[in-house]
Amino acid sequence: MKSIVVANWKMNPATFKEARKLFEATRKAAESAKNVAVIVAPPAIFLRELSVGYKGKRLSFAAQNAHYEAGGAFTGEISMSEARDAKCSSVIIGHAERRGMGEENDDTRRKVVAALTIGLTPVLCVGERTRSQSGEHFEFVREQLVAGFADVPPAKIPRVIIVYEPVWAIGAERPMNARDMHEMAIFIRKTVVDRYGQGGMNLKILYGGSIDESNAEDMIQNGDVNGLLVGRASTDAEKFSALVSALGAL
Ligand code: 13P
Repeated sequence: MKSIVVANWKMNPATFKEARKLFEATRKAAESAKNVAVIVAPPAIFLRELSVGYKGKRLSFAAQNAHYEAGGAFTGEISMSEARDAKCSSVIIGHAERRGMGEENDDTRRKVVAALTIGLTPVLCVGERTRSQSGEHFEFVREQLVAGFADVPPAKIPRVIIVYEPVWAIGAERPMNARDMHEMAIFIRKTVVDRYGQGGMNLKILYGGSIDESNAEDMIQNGDVNGLLVGRASTDAEKFSALVSALGAL
């Protein structure tokens, strides 16, 4: 079974020397697991040096974030074209940590189209902060999806990769239950199909939140997902290699 693994290094590691070492281990892991497509998202400042030096095909690069404007007075931001120029083929949009810093549904809407327009794959993150018995989280996720796809031409819908990452399971002790993910995957497809048409049936859906080498296989086999977005375990060379090889064996 082919799966996608996004290695989101977030704001790690502290030096380029360590980044190069981690990348080397990541590359080896990706090259030994033929049915796992690894997408590495290093900090922007390390990206180009890693990507231009990589000549293989087993691994691709993502920006952790990019602005929807083509250029201008946006201190501290990078643009979609700058990300593409640094050999990114995808961009993470609306990660919970960016949303926590003020990114809104309207920003993610613009970023998704901006990415598609320039030929980058948007990796659109959605997920509620908390859950209660009443099921309001479905409505919350529905709004994030409706906004994210609002300006996407129907033919391009299947090009968007969705990551469901419940905020309460990020940086936590364990991931959400795979059966609950299965339910959410059905909900995500249905929401996009109901609102924007059949393209939603072909969406790739990933799960993110406390995935490591011990639970990745269960989530892939029982969560109805095409892959995983991995934070902490992607910056630990041993854990990440074990995770990729576990999925490679499926
Ligand atoms: P952790 O894997 O560190 O929980 O982070 C995951 C994440 O950011 C999910 O999108």
